[in-house]
Amino acid sequence: MAGRFWSFEGIDGSGKSTQARLLAASLRAAGHEVVLTREPGGSPGAEDIRRLVLEGTSDRWSAETEILLFTAARRDHLEKTIRPALERGAVVITDRFADSTRMYQGISRGDLGQVVDDLHALMIGVEPDLTFLIDLPAALGLARAQARAGAEMRFEGMGLAMQTQMRSGFLALAAKHARFAVIDGTAAQETIAAQILAIALAHLG
Ligand code: ADP
Ligand code: TYD
Repeated sequence: MAGRFWSFEGIDGSGKSTQARLLAASLRAAGHEVVLTREPGGSPGAEDIRRLVLEGTSDRWSAETEILLFTAARRDHLEKTIRPALERGAVVITDRFADSTRMYQGISRGDLGQVVDDLHALMIGVEPDLTFLIDLPAALGLARAQARAGAEMRFEGMGLAMQTQMRSGFLALAAKHARFAVIDGTAAQETIAAQILAIALAHLG
């Protein structure tokens, strides 16, 4: 496909949405077509599923049911938003993708990593060309996420132990795959944005 497919990953409150927005703005200013999107969501059907998975009590869904719901949302996102944009040659920047399922559903409540990977292979089958992992201590991420608390608190509600596990899981995943760039999320927003832009421009060539 002609375009570029990039994701932002990290624990809740790590600064993904902020940095995805800043990167999209810089690239647009440089004349690129950018599609800024997010998961769960990014297409009308997937946004409907978002409400099901992010609102309500922490025990509303089992991890297995969540894998199905997040993958259903991702499939719709891929069909309706990501693939058409890549075919046009756009840069697609998504705030979370399958690595989030690998962490939040794959390791948080038992070892479901193989199930996530099998369903991914069957139904999604693509990975980003580049993934920015914004890394920071779990307590800092949780504090930032809770400061902007709203209705979407199912995962933040699972607490510090889970966020700590997610952080080390993301770092372990990044160590295994060359597509990851690990970014220090404790730095100032502008510092992080400059680092990310440099990597992005190098990637565009
Ligand atoms: P995420 O999308 O990873 O949950 P956000 O981008 O929404 O994170 O950021 C979470 C909160 O932290 C927001 O209130 C945001 O303004 C703030 N924030 C983001 N980046 C930084 C930073 N580098 N330093 C301090 N606060 C930040
Ligand atoms: P998001 O809106 O990115 O939250 P935040 O800004 O707090 O990082 O994502 C909402 C929640 O959805 C987040 O707690 C992680 C969770 N999630 C999963 O559990 N599995 C997934 O596959 C995805 C994409 C997100």
